[in-house]
Formats: sequence, C-alpha cells, structure tokens
Amino acid sequence: MHIDSTNIYAFPYFEEKRMLNTSIRKLTPEDAPWVHVFWIEHWGSDLMVVHGQTFTSSGLPGFVVEENGQVLGLATYRIENDECELMSIDSLIEGQGIGSQLLEAVIATARQAGLRRLYLSTSNDNMNAMRFYQKRGFRFCALRPGAVTETRRLKPAIPLVGFNSIPIRDELELELFL
Ligand SMILES: CC(C)(COP(=O)(O)OP(=O)(O)OC[C@H]1O[C@@H](n2cnc3c(N)ncnc32)[C@H](O)[C@@H]1OP(=O)(O)O)[C@@H](O)C(=O)NCCC(=O)NCCS
Repeated sequence: MHIDSTNIYAFPYFEEKRMLNTSIRKLTPEDAPWVHVFWIEHWGSDLMVVHGQTFTSSGLPGFVVEENGQVLGLATYRIENDECELMSIDSLIEGQGIGSQLLEAVIATARQAGLRRLYLSTSNDNMNAMRFYQKRGFRFCALRPGAVTETRRLKPAIPLVGFNSIPIRDELELELFL
C-alpha cells in the first residue's frame, strides 16, 4: 500500500488524547518512498551515521504502525551476522503504546531469526529514549564521547542542542540479549 507522506502529520492526531485503533505491519518495497521522506523529516537526512558507519533507509526492513492508513510510527532495523541493529524508531503520538508495539515487533522478529543481540545507538540528550529502552530490558554497553560532534561534520542537519536544551555530543549504545 502506498502512503502519501503528506498524511504523516495529519490533523487531528496531535490535537487530542483518545483511544487509538492501530495496526502494525511489515514494511514492503512500496513503502520506500515515504520512509525516505519520513527519515528526512524526522532525522534531518536520509543518511543515518552511527558508530562511524553510514546507512540510508533504502532497503531496510521495518514495521509501521497505522490508523486508517495514517502513519503513526515507524521502526527500521538491519541484521548483520547474528545481531540486529535498531536503526530508527519514531512514534508520532507518544505515551500510547506505539513505540512499545514497534520495539516488540523488532524483538520478536530478531528472536524468530535466532539472533543473539539487539542493539541501538542514541544521543546523550535523549533521556526519553534512555528511559524507554532501559525499562524494556536494554543495558548500556558503550559510550562514544564526541561521536555526534564528529558525525555533524558529515550531517550538518544534526542540531547542536537537543531535548531539554542538552548539547548533543555523544553516542550511547544499548543492547538486549535475545
Ligand atoms: C522513544 C519513543 C519511540 C517511545 O515511543 P512511545 O510511543 O512514546 O512509546 P510508548 O507509548 O510505547 O511508551 C512510552 C510510555 O507511555 C506509556 N504508555 C504506553 N501506552 C500507554 C497508554 N495507552 N496510556 C498511557 N500511557 C501509556 C508506557 O508505559 C511508556 O512509559 P514507560 O516507558 O515509562 O514504561 C518516542 O518517544 C519517540 O518517537 N521519540 C522520538 C524519536 C526518538 O528519539 N527515537 C529513539 C531514537 S534512539
């Protein structure tokens, strides 16, 4: 199914807290165009630079949460050897279970594939993400001081200051053994 990216932010999703009637499905190749736009809109670019490696959204597997064809959340991941890396996770209505649904789908997929570890990187300002992952069993396994400052040379769209007015400088890695 093709989803028009202009619908991503559609009213009334930010206007009210109400019971959502969502469904989750795997991404298909037809989703690639709007996923590309989604990454640019949410991450400043279709380039994701983590642990010194550069990725694009192109061809990444993932899951989308929708309500009536409207995108409410997206997660992408990649598999290398016996490990799965969560490349992105975004919920457009926070605190209603969308992020958990996406994360659980990635965990279940990785377990079914017999993988050993799921890991991800986040930036030092993202306290919300750090809470979210730790409450779901993830533990910190690496700190890369100055990694985001370095990445900003390649990707100037990364803001200098992030959540809670915290300067964005470092990359933290969290992992979950499956
Ligand atoms: C991190 C992120 C994906 C979490 O998504 P989310 O949709 O808010 O996640 P959930 O709603 O599943 O969980 C958030 C909280 O809401 C609570 N919640 C879930 N469903 C709920 C409901 N129906 N009513 C009330 N609260 C609910 C959860 O218990 C959870 O609290 P906890 O973490 O203290 O246990 C989201 O904050 C996000 O998109 N952030 C911006 C992008 C980002 O930083 N991504 C991570 C990059 S590493």
